[in-house]
Amino acid sequence: MTHIVDQITGHRRMRRNRKADWTRRLVQESRLTVDDLIWPIFVVPGTNVVEPIPSMPGVNRMSVDRLVEAAKEAADLGVPALATFPNIEMSLRDETGSNSLAADNLINQATRALKQHVPQIGVITDVALDPFTSHGHDGILRGSEIVNDETVEQVARAAVVQADAGSDIISPSEMMDGRIGAIRQALDDAGHQNVGIMSYATKFSSAFYGPYREAIGTGGLLKGDKKTYYIDPANGTEAIRDAALDVEEGADMLMVKPGLPYLDICWRMKEAFGLPVFAYQVSGEYAQIKAAAMNGWIDGDRVMMETLLAFKRAGCDGILSYFAVEVARALAKKG
Ligand code: PBG
Repeated sequence: MTHIVDQITGHRRMRRNRKADWTRRLVQESRLTVDDLIWPIFVVPGTNVVEPIPSMPGVNRMSVDRLVEAAKEAADLGVPALATFPNIEMSLRDETGSNSLAADNLINQATRALKQHVPQIGVITDVALDPFTSHGHDGILRGSEIVNDETVEQVARAAVVQADAGSDIISPSEMMDGRIGAIRQALDDAGHQNVGIMSYATKFSSAFYGPYREAIGTGGLLKGDKKTYYIDPANGTEAIRDAALDVEEGADMLMVKPGLPYLDICWRMKEAFGLPVFAYQVSGEYAQIKAAAMNGWIDGDRVMMETLLAFKRAGCDGILSYFAVEVARALAKKG
C-alpha cells in the first residue's frame, strides 16, 4: 500500500538520516573544536585583582598576574589564542589616546607577561584608541570629527609598539580608511614581517557592544556615536567592499563583528575572499544568553554551543567568544 506521504515525497525521506545518534553523528556537517576559539579578556592595573563585570556574568577583569593564570588554563585546554582589552586608569586617558603609544602601557605589560609565562598561546591585540581616549572614540577627535589620517598614523605606531612587546597578531578595530596598509608597512619597516593582521574588516555600528563599554570603562565617556566610522547594520554589500580593501592592503585574517546577527556577512566574506574569517560573538550577545539562562528561560549551555556551531556552519574558521574557556572545558569533558 502506498501511503499518501510516499506519493508526495516519492520515497525521499529526510528523516532516515536523523533516526539515531549514530546516523546523526555520521552526517554532521559542521563541528566545533577547541581550535576554533579565541578568548577575549579584560585587563586592569594592579595585582591580584579579579573584578566581575555586572553586565557580563561570569566574565572578569583581571590584573596581569591573574590574567597569566587564566591564560595558563586556557592554554592547557587547547585554546589557541587570546584577545586582550585594557581598562586603564581614567587619569591616563586623554584627547588623543597617547597612552596607546607607551611601550609599558597596560596592554603591552599583559603581552610581555603572557609571552613570558604562557608562550604557547597566541596573543592578539587591538590598536583602536577607545580604551585610551577621554571621549571613548576609537580615533582622534578634532572638533566633532574623528580624523582619519592622523588616527591611522597613530594606530600604525601603536601596532609597532604592540609588536615590540610580543603581540602575535595586530587586530585593528577602529575602521579608519587605509589602516591595514599603513599598519602592514609600519610593521614591515620595523622588522615585524611575521606579525599578522586580523582586520576587524566588517565592524558594524551596533548596539550589541554595550557591556564591553562597561568592561573597559568607556560607556559613560562616549560622546555621540560611532556611525561616521563603523558600518551601517543595513549594508551588506558595503561591508564586503570595505573588507575587499583590507584584503588588498594585506590583511591575513578577517573578522565579522558582531557575530550572530551578521551570519550572512560571514558567509559572503568567506565566499568572496577565501581568507580565514572569524566572527566576534560580542558582549551583548554573551549578555543576552547569560541573562536568559540565569532566568531559567533558556538552556544556556545548549544555546552557547548552538550559537558557536552556527558560526561554523556560516563558514567561519573560528570565533572570538567570552564563552571560549567554558566551551573548551565542556568540549574537554565530552572527550
Ligand atoms: C572598539 C571595540 C568595540 C568592541 C571591542 N573593541 C566596540 C565599541 O565599543 O565600539 C566590542 C566588543 C564587544 O562588545 O564584545 N574598538
